[in-house]
Amino acid sequence: MTGWTLRPQGPIQGELNLPGDKSITHRALIFNAFARGEATISGLLDSGDTRSTAHCLQALGAKVHWQGSHATVVGCAGVFNEPDVPLDCGNSGTTIRLLSGLLSTQSMLTILTGDDSLRSRPMRRIVEPLRLLGAEVDGRMNGARAPLVIRGRHLKGGHIHSPIASAQVKTAVLLAGLGCVDAIHFSEPHKSRDHSERMLEAMGVKIQVSKDGVQMNGRQPLQATSLHVPGDISSAAFFLVAASIVPNSDLMLRNVGLNPTRTGIIDVLKSMGADITIVAQRVNAGEPSGDVRVRSAPLRGTRISGAMIPRVIDELPVLSVAASFADGVTHVSDAAELRVKETDRIETTIEMIRAFGGEIQERPDGFLVHGQGLSQPGTVDPKGDHRIAMAAAIAGIASSGVTIQGADCVTVSFPSFPHLLNHACS
Ligand code: S3P
Repeated sequence: MTGWTLRPQGPIQGELNLPGDKSITHRALIFNAFARGEATISGLLDSGDTRSTAHCLQALGAKVHWQGSHATVVGCAGVFNEPDVPLDCGNSGTTIRLLSGLLSTQSMLTILTGDDSLRSRPMRRIVEPLRLLGAEVDGRMNGARAPLVIRGRHLKGGHIHSPIASAQVKTAVLLAGLGCVDAIHFSEPHKSRDHSERMLEAMGVKIQVSKDGVQMNGRQPLQATSLHVPGDISSAAFFLVAASIVPNSDLMLRNVGLNPTRTGIIDVLKSMGADITIVAQRVNAGEPSGDVRVRSAPLRGTRISGAMIPRVIDELPVLSVAASFADGVTHVSDAAELRVKETDRIETTIEMIRAFGGEIQERPDGFLVHGQGLSQPGTVDPKGDHRIAMAAAIAGIASSGVTIQGADCVTVSFPSFPHLLNHACS
């Protein structure tokens, strides 16, 4: 599949089991590869990004035996081997940023790189805090871009305030903190996703979370911990929007991760009038999950800004599709972070909505969508961005159809998306 053509579809119905959460999969692999002992992880997301993480960990000497949605990981008990090649993090910002934190305390040299998109993304956000902790990290443009070069050593610790709310920055600091002599304290303007804090605690680390941030003593070991990864709410988002806007839809999504730092998509859609109910809830390794039912409903425009943005950052492209079908205007602001994702997602979202004849205006830190529907079939080039490709697919089935060029990029986070979409539409 390179060019993918979709026709308009009738109701979205039935039941779906979504693949595992990408953020939790990366962490389950990385944390267990560094831990002491052996862990079995089930419900893993098998995708381009998470395979990049596994390959890097194998090059560092961890044993990762991966089969479908299961993996057994034998950890390195806190000591990785020096890799004899640069680590290829592919398209994955989470892989390069999290590993940089961890590797800055390993007494060896590592080089981390990735594809064209990853090498154009900002790295100073992790390089600066790691240097403040005492790390020797460099990269192109004085540490602003990958490839990054890390000569690991003992770090001291300290207080890091990140000017942006970012779980990748926070986790890089926490992973470096595991090897620091002194305690670390991390703060950020709004709370970012907290999967790392929950998983570190489940693996025996003493960590204090308060409204001022996260505090952790240094020199703490990780104990390998088996766990089940819940379904990815960021993948569920495409179906939550599709079933909300395609008339007469009624869809049940099973085992969706419902961590409150990630459920912004449900809160925003509900504030737009969506009919979404959480049917049953459970908790595994500190992570809540549940079944989510969504039925079509008339939507109205809304405002998305401030503390909501980190809770919905990856879902803003598909929310622009929901907003196109809503009554009134939807304002997205405080979301300049979108400019430094896999693509400039303010630009690619605007191009995507306009390809369908939708009305959307650019703002430096977001966009404004006029909910007047999508009037024409679209041809969309997602520029290699998986979330733009999948948002375009939902726009296409809900309007007059779409052709998505280079649609293979969906494999970065959601290889089974075409199959599940087809299943829910038939
Ligand atoms: C992620 C954090 C977010 C998110 C990304 C995954 C993570 O990025 O956009 O898709 O797993 O920690 P930032 O930390 O840069 O906000």
